[in-house]
Amino acid sequence: MAKVVYILNGPNLNLLGKREPEIYGHQTLDDVHQMCIAQAENHGLDIVFRQSNAEHDLIDWVQEAREAAHAIIINPAAYSHTSIAILDALSACTCPVIEVHVSNIHRRETFRHHSYVSQKADAVIAGCGVEGYLLALQRAATLLKES
Ligand code: DQA
Repeated sequence: MAKVVYILNGPNLNLLGKREPEIYGHQTLDDVHQMCIAQAENHGLDIVFRQSNAEHDLIDWVQEAREAAHAIIINPAAYSHTSIAILDALSACTCPVIEVHVSNIHRRETFRHHSYVSQKADAVIAGCGVEGYLLALQRAATLLKES
């Protein structure tokens, strides 16, 4: 049976492609979903791909992934910088966690420089555009092969 990777997206990422394209690019979240399906197929992985603007949905999905996923890729968006609750949910997981940011958060406003989630993440990818999701899947595949 294929291993399962949850790819979770936080607030405002539903507007990818429309929102501040000079920062986040022109590809939509649906484009990212399709790219991730293709990349996952290449690696023989199954994905669950979700987005919510609500912190509690992300926490519930991380808790679901704790039981169902072999790895978690998460772009917590603005909750990266505020949410101890999402960090706590991820800390309860034993599978690999990879944090993705489309933009380079370290080159932006200082309030974006700190991510609570990074404290738990096995890897952090920032500033690679939406390609970051594909790199994260590639890394998840490597980690899952090693495990
Ligand atoms: C983001 C960076 C965050 O600072 C921001 O709040 C987002 C998106 C990114 O993907 O670059 O919404 O996580």
